[in-house]
Amino acid sequence: MHLPGKVKFRSRLLSELKIAIALLVILPASITNVQAAGDPADGERLARQWCAACHVVADDQTNGTEAVPSFTEIAKTRGFNEATLTGFLADPHPKMPDMSLTNREISNLASYILSRGN
Ligand code: HEC
Repeated sequence: MHLPGKVKFRSRLLSELKIAIALLVILPASITNVQAAGDPADGERLARQWCAACHVVADDQTNGTEAVPSFTEIAKTRGFNEATLTGFLADPHPKMPDMSLTNREISNLASYILSRGN
């Protein structure tokens, strides 16, 4: 009978899975506490691709819409931090299109936008 061995293997696998899931939940939170989690260079690439139609996203961009705040303005004057900015991008309000960004894209964009305030 191989059954007991199989059952044992199953439950070990299960508890290892539980540990892996726990780490996945805990790790990102502890990383964001230490530093901005995103990659600002990739955020700039995304911004030029997805946001530049309305926002001035970089210094070398000459055309944009007056009515839409530039990313520098957003970083400097709107009082956003990493948490509020990622929150906004995950669930933008009506004047802005919902672009269904992934968490990774949101985090990179937030890092880029916040870097514009330096
Ligand atoms: C179709 C035009 C359009 C596009 C594309 C767009 N935005 Fe916006 N965005 C707006 C407008 C309009 C506002 C101003 C909303 C307001 O003042 O209520 C805004 C405001 C914002 C704000 C500030 C919100 C606040 O409360 O001050 C952030 C941050 C922002 N956009 C990020 C982005 C990012 C990141 C992208 C690209 C992924 C993007 N936007 C793409 C139109 C756009």
